[in-house]
Amino acid sequence: MAIHSKLPDIGTTIFTRMSALAREHGAINLSQGFPDFPAPEGLRRALAHHALEGHNQYAPMIGEPALREQVAAQLQRFRGVTPDPVEEITIVPGATEGIFCAIMALVDRDDEVILLDPSYDSYEPAVRLAGGRAIHVPLIEDTFAVDWDHVSGALSSRTRMIVINSPHNPTGAVLSHSDLETLEELAELRDLLVVSDEVYEHLVFDGARHHSVLEYPALRSRSVTVYSFGKTYGVTGWKTGYCVAPPALTAELRKVHQFNCFVGVTPVQLALADFMAEDPDYPGTLPGFYQAKRDLLHRALANSRFRLRPSAGTYFQLLDYSDITDEPDHSLCERWTVEQGVASIPISIFYQAPPQQHYLRLCFAKQDEQLLRAAETLCRI
Ligand SMILES: Cc1ncc(COP(=O)(O)O)c(C=O)c1O
Repeated sequence: MAIHSKLPDIGTTIFTRMSALAREHGAINLSQGFPDFPAPEGLRRALAHHALEGHNQYAPMIGEPALREQVAAQLQRFRGVTPDPVEEITIVPGATEGIFCAIMALVDRDDEVILLDPSYDSYEPAVRLAGGRAIHVPLIEDTFAVDWDHVSGALSSRTRMIVINSPHNPTGAVLSHSDLETLEELAELRDLLVVSDEVYEHLVFDGARHHSVLEYPALRSRSVTVYSFGKTYGVTGWKTGYCVAPPALTAELRKVHQFNCFVGVTPVQLALADFMAEDPDYPGTLPGFYQAKRDLLHRALANSRFRLRPSAGTYFQLLDYSDITDEPDHSLCERWTVEQGVASIPISIFYQAPPQQHYLRLCFAKQDEQLLRAAETLCRI
């Protein structure tokens, strides 16, 4: 039987592979982006409650009303915007599905989509499956800021969309107010759609604040913004997120969502709604919590041979290992998982054309004890 692969060059994601390797070798897993500590007890109890109470059948296609109401209230509280929970908010089974639906719905055959490298690995396959073409523009090499002149130069008459991600995985960089203003101008001028991946919106450190496309009216009117309850509430395994977009874009997104996953998981949505109502300030505790972990890791690695890149947001830290070896990052990651017992993620895989860099990404959403054990090992290298 002849199979014509639509994604012949795509294998299993690096996250799945590194976590499997970490398990196989009993390594400390600082590779994949998920917490190794429990989610809030009230949230877990709420899930058990709703499952036991019998809320186990299909949710409405656009999401449970109670959860969409809570999302609207949270966006008002943290971003000062008031999207309509019926016309503009859609609950999806994870940000990945939201991004996929947005791209499938809005990108046509031969449309070009700007991706800023290093870019999260789900974007490009979605663009290609939609029949579009990904145009990769690298972030500036040493700061990981966006080179807007380079972005402008990469636009053509076929450019339909740009995907942005702030706070940024894997670099920890965050977009500034002026970045968003520049994007707003460019998007208006060139009639671009925007997918804004803001799954780490609450993880911004050192007193800085997250700038969301939702806060820029002209940008918001042409954007699908994507969030993940998995990241905010430490329940990545619940695979639940949401998209915010103006009604016309939301209508298109929902057409794909309803024939892709159709709905999100009912008791999960009800549990999240309860918890958000009970503890609306919970996301406000996250910067302090994760900044303490970042700083613990920094102190523990201070005497290592690694150079630490600034991590302004997310729960990721880049280590520059160029003073130790010039071995390519993917082989080094695998070797150190097996030989040193610490698993990380190579960042070259997030580039179409990786620059001459030597960075590993560590996830610090881990128990302090694990971070300290990993750092002790890394200090011996
Ligand atoms: C930048 C980015 N976008 C999207 C996702 C996917 O989020 P979800 O698990 O809600 O699909 C992740 C998860 O690691 C991510 O890092």
